[in-house]
Amino acid sequence: MTITRPLRLGTPLSPSAVKVMLLGSGELGKEVIISLQRLGVEVIAVDRYANAPGHQVAHRFHVIDMTDSTALTALIEQERPDLVVPEIEAIATTALVELEKNGVATVIPTARAAWLTMNREGIRRLAAEQLGLPTSPYRFADSLDELKTACVEVGFPCVIKPVMSSSGKGQSKIDGPGEIEEAWNYAASGSRVDAGRVIVEGFIDFDYEITQLTVRAMKDDAVVTHFCEPIGHVQEKGDYIESWQPHPMPAIALEKSREIARKVTDELGGLGIFGVELFVKGDMVWFSEVSPRPHDTGMVTMASQKQSEFELHAKAILGLPVDVTVISPAASAVIYGRHEAKAIAFEGVADALRVPGADIRLFGKPESFARRRMGVALATAGDIDTARRRAKEAAANVRPVTTG
Ligand SMILES: Nc1ncnc2c1ncn2[C@@H]1O[C@H](COP(=O)(O)OP(=O)(O)OP(=O)(O)O)[C@@H](O)[C@H]1O
Ligand SMILES: [Mg+2]
Repeated sequence: MTITRPLRLGTPLSPSAVKVMLLGSGELGKEVIISLQRLGVEVIAVDRYANAPGHQVAHRFHVIDMTDSTALTALIEQERPDLVVPEIEAIATTALVELEKNGVATVIPTARAAWLTMNREGIRRLAAEQLGLPTSPYRFADSLDELKTACVEVGFPCVIKPVMSSSGKGQSKIDGPGEIEEAWNYAASGSRVDAGRVIVEGFIDFDYEITQLTVRAMKDDAVVTHFCEPIGHVQEKGDYIESWQPHPMPAIALEKSREIARKVTDELGGLGIFGVELFVKGDMVWFSEVSPRPHDTGMVTMASQKQSEFELHAKAILGLPVDVTVISPAASAVIYGRHEAKAIAFEGVADALRVPGADIRLFGKPESFARRRMGVALATAGDIDTARRRAKEAAANVRPVTTG
């Protein structure tokens, strides 16, 4: 059935079902699916490998190469979901644009947003050149020679990233011209597709960085923008290891953050949650990037908010109202696999749960890598410092072990 206003939710696996397809079914998708399941939505989970976390909680699942336009189009035409919800960037987004244009699929938040944000160039040019948002200085380069010129123009230190990459893959910070070649080779190794094109960004010496979760949801007949409390986080090698909410900020910086978040999410449009990544120094705020979906640092909201970022996304995309209230300061700390092995096990879970205010999520990923995120520890407390300490202690208590 198609989603009509006022919204009618149906019965899964029947003609009245509202059907949602997740493209990417990792730990973030899994939580979105659980939220949708609670509303009786029929969920189809898609990923590139079998038994992905979201596959395990959906009504049915598919394994396809989501960067393959033909395979992706065929699957959407076969399943005919009411909504297509990208959970990752590495998708044939041009196929989504085409399907949306032909009225075959409604993409969350929009096919254009998914397409623009999968490439650093698309979103950076939109933010800086079209919307006039403050960003680090930047250049693009397609060859080592171009990169050398670009680095000199941007200045040192600078950060070099493949235009198509996420989770810090292929990314390096360099301090001088002597490191350019190594950074170029490293970027080529970490790029998803389109090997070769990189962005060089001037290094921002920020005091801290935040994720401004921003939700576009229906209220009566209009789309309203809601701002979650800022989430502070620590990144290591471009990958998040710890986050907390609310992150205290001066009123001016908070206001600027929300202004930036509003401008960029207004432009991207549609319904759902966005993770707007911002760098802050004193009262100055720079836009870094935006993901039109739940954000990994936002896992903390499973402990800190009345409605987690996943529940907010699920409700918003269906056209339902949302509530972004924080109920307690809280923190999250990542649990890595530490082993390269299939079907690992976790010891120390009871010890983790004995930490006051702590809870954990294990994602159920079928294969572990040393630096693969396999779970997350959450903790609430009366203040952020205590919450962070508790979350880290709980995460450290969980010991991944190999079996068999
Ligand atoms: N120009 C910059 N100045 C200072 N630090 C930066 C800059 N660009 C990136 N970083 C640091 O590296 C981290 C990862 O960068 P970025 O978000 O661009 O990469 P990513 O691969 O998209 O990561 P993710 O997918 O985890 O968000 C940032 O959160 C920040 O800590
Ligand atoms: Mg990022």
